[in-house]
Amino acid sequence: MPETSSAPAAETRLRDHVVRLGAEHPPIDVSTVDFTVKQPTVLLARFGGVLDYMARTELEVERNVLELATLLPDPPEIDRVFYSEVWKPQETVHGLILDELQVRLGRPPANADLTTVSAKIRVVGALAHLPAFQDVVRMLYYLTGMATERSALLAYHRLYDGVVELGETAVAETVITPIRRQEPGHYAFYQMSARALWEQMSAWQHWLVRHLRTISFAPVGANTDDQRADVGDMMIALGLDKREDAETFAEQIGRVERDLLWAHQRGLLVPPYIAGAFRDAVELARHRAAA
Ligand SMILES: [Fe+2]
Ligand SMILES: [Fe+2]
Repeated sequence: MPETSSAPAAETRLRDHVVRLGAEHPPIDVSTVDFTVKQPTVLLARFGGVLDYMARTELEVERNVLELATLLPDPPEIDRVFYSEVWKPQETVHGLILDELQVRLGRPPANADLTTVSAKIRVVGALAHLPAFQDVVRMLYYLTGMATERSALLAYHRLYDGVVELGETAVAETVITPIRRQEPGHYAFYQMSARALWEQMSAWQHWLVRHLRTISFAPVGANTDDQRADVGDMMIALGLDKREDAETFAEQIGRVERDLLWAHQRGLLVPPYIAGAFRDAVELARHRAAA
């Protein structure tokens, strides 16, 4: 009886994971950060845009939590504990540190939207009052979380290498290292949750998740063409813009999603809407630069 024996085990694992994350990863203490930069102009020219994009999306978790309250009127307790007591406090400090760094380098602070819950989200939230639909919405939330955390982690790895290459060791070791250490735990939460929920869902819910995901996938924080171009600029700055690199990036982001949602499509490397979204972002960035 897999449903009765594995579900409680998965729940316990998830709860242990969240408790451990909270205990082992308190928000970074900003006083431990060394903002010393040897060549501000060089760092700014090479990674200024990346810092801005990462700072904005990290700070916007504040709005994401408001969105979640709308999208999931009745979330499982463990979700609420995770996003309000573990995830949000950690991500907010990531945003504050990155923003402080870019301001010290001479850039304006990130233009983060912390309060506007879009009409689209309010409509979905209204539908989510139906329990069967709320599960669909919750699944979309986990999938979004997985893609977001994975892309953040990959971006921080690239950024770390680039910053080390420039000899900016203080930024590498006291800004990026502690931040990127906290991202895998977030990813693991979404992955465990997505796997457990997918197993419990019915065929029509699976169909609806696939459909909604296909029409709504977007990189994190990319709701306008300008923001999509910012994602493209980030990929260019991190050396992820060449076709093969962009494909690998998308593949790593979409692997678990492919295995869950698209298991029936044998040989699919990456869901096309994920690969396409990142490809479009690079295109938009190139067009904007040329214009
Ligand atoms: Fe983060
Ligand atoms: Fe994260």
